[in-house]
Amino acid sequence: APEELDARIESAKAALGRRLVILGHHYQRDEVIKFADARGDSLRLARFAAEQDEAAYVVFCGVHFMAESADVLTAPHQQVILPDLNAGCSMADMADAEDVETAWEELAEVIDTEALVPITYINSSAAVKAFVGRHDGVVCTSSNARAVLTWALGEPGGAAGRGEKVLFVPDQHLGRNTALAMGYRPDEIALYDPRRPLGGLDERTVKEARVLVWKGHCSVHQRFTPAHVAAFREAHPEGIVVVHPECAHEVVAVADLVGSTDFIIKTVAEAPAGAVLGVGTEIHLVHRLATEHPEKTVVSLDPLVCPCSTMFRIDPPHLAWVLDGLVAGEVRNRITVDDETARWARVALERMLTIS
Ligand code: 13P
Ligand code: SF4
Repeated sequence: APEELDARIESAKAALGRRLVILGHHYQRDEVIKFADARGDSLRLARFAAEQDEAAYVVFCGVHFMAESADVLTAPHQQVILPDLNAGCSMADMADAEDVETAWEELAEVIDTEALVPITYINSSAAVKAFVGRHDGVVCTSSNARAVLTWALGEPGGAAGRGEKVLFVPDQHLGRNTALAMGYRPDEIALYDPRRPLGGLDERTVKEARVLVWKGHCSVHQRFTPAHVAAFREAHPEGIVVVHPECAHEVVAVADLVGSTDFIIKTVAEAPAGAVLGVGTEIHLVHRLATEHPEKTVVSLDPLVCPCSTMFRIDPPHLAWVLDGLVAGEVRNRITVDDETARWARVALERMLTIS
């Protein structure tokens, strides 16, 4: 029964005290996020994990790459736990570290990779982050993508960045949306398809592009279309459209506001009473915002949108099971990154935390 699971989780939390910290991403279901000691977007949770010196156990209610980043950013004596090991991220899976390595080698035959800066979205494996760290690159999140891209490339017509070109992995949409918002032209952005030699690009395109975006996407956010936005505006002419930058550019182009999950939450919170907001992000967050702001109308842009199925895997039974284990002195579902990978992934993550 739900009450029994809640009681088990509460009593484990009480028994473990400050030795335990539970982190929850905004896409977690309500029955789970209510137990989180801190909730946040990817950037906030990465920072929070890095500050947890006291907790011996960090239980991450989120997906695998987030738990890996937490393991990289915490001290060796701290253990990071993912309640369900099957909670992966299909976008992160679209960038295999070996494929990134191969892409780099192919690009090196056409351009000087000294001037190429690899950037990986935090939604990637620790191995991809380590590759990026080894090649003087950096991690970004949806909150700081612009600051990170500015560090790497500079703004068009502004001060120079660390390099002349960027390879942005694995989300083409975040890469493209950020570069366009900075003022880069569509013809300066090229889509790199890792399944094809040299990304399916000709040498001239590679030489002329400023931003090479990896052909990966989020299957949840890619479902939103301009037609959804048009239908919302038809129904709510005064409504405000706010979307996540993992949405395709054609959706971002017709939205009023674009930003990370923390930004979306702030936008809804600061909207005046009576406001109508059409939101393009994962459904659990949209429903929670609607419940928390009864004086406003908060709806998903896509009435049929599905949840992030992997975020949804973290449920009270799994959370109770790992916590019961900790109370009994048994660490279940620990996420560890090997030392060598962690060393370089840390370089790329800490560079991000310094830039933003
Ligand atoms: P943020 O919480 O950083 O906006 O990321 C969204 C997301 O898709 C996490 O997987
Ligand atoms: Fe990955 Fe998209 Fe789910 Fe985030 S919402 S964990 S990017 S699949």
